[in-house]
Amino acid sequence: MRGSARIILVLLGPPGAGKGTQASRIAVHYDIPAISTGAMFREAVQRGTRLGRIVQKCRIDQGEYVPDEIVIDAVRERTSEPDCIPGFLLDGFPRTIPQADSLNAMLEQQGQALNGVLDIEAPINEIIGRFSGRRVCPVDGSTYHLVTQPPQQPGICDICHSKLIMRPDDNSDVVRRRLEVYEQKTAPLRDYYRNLGQLREIDATGDPETVFGQVVSVIEALKAQTTPVL
Ligand code: AP5
Repeated sequence: MRGSARIILVLLGPPGAGKGTQASRIAVHYDIPAISTGAMFREAVQRGTRLGRIVQKCRIDQGEYVPDEIVIDAVRERTSEPDCIPGFLLDGFPRTIPQADSLNAMLEQQGQALNGVLDIEAPINEIIGRFSGRRVCPVDGSTYHLVTQPPQQPGICDICHSKLIMRPDDNSDVVRRRLEVYEQKTAPLRDYYRNLGQLREIDATGDPETVFGQVVSVIEALKAQTTPVL
């Protein structure tokens, strides 16, 4: 993109903290694709693609992670598509240290670097409330909340009018497992990125607009540190 630097961002944070909600707003505001590995995998399973068949065996509906090499290949392929030329936002990747190392290597090969990592954090009681009220559209993937982001018509998607559902991995046993796996495999990335000077903490306790205000200030500060590409 002439005259402006490419923006490359990562959203980190526990399941249910509000990463996807902020990712959609960032994508619109900065006109870059938001790439959610979780959404990519759910779509692949739904469409029955080769990736979907592999992912299905990994028990993601039980909160288990997809093996690193599969995730890394999927992200490498997706980020090489033309819509990623102006930059992109990764939501839910990297989730392990080997994934983070691969992302650094991938970007280095292209002479690029991450602008920053936004760590979306909310207290556990808030996260549990966000899970229990979340409803999603099985057709277009849009996300609602019974209390904080209700659809215009109860139980119906505003965009495609399909019936909203609870995500299968939002039941309380799977949520417990997802939070456990997050603490074990993904939380160490906070120190990884803090040590690289790339971590920016976002307090996601407020409503989505208030949180987005903080997100934009942080991204603007990160962009100001980046030299424009002519
Ligand atoms: P993924 O889909 O990425 O799930 P997740 O990280 O667990 O995150 P969620 O989508 O559950 O939550 P979110 O933080 O996006 O919250 P949201 O904005 O929806 O991954 C699913 C699975 O795929 C993983 O468990 C794993 O198995 C696999 N996978 C994916 N990536 C992988 C990788 N890199 N490596 C290996 N495996 C991988 O918000 C939640 C609710 O709260 C919504 O209802 C929303 O409306 C509401 N809400 C949001 N913000 C606010 C707010 N500020 N105030 C009030 N309500 C709010």
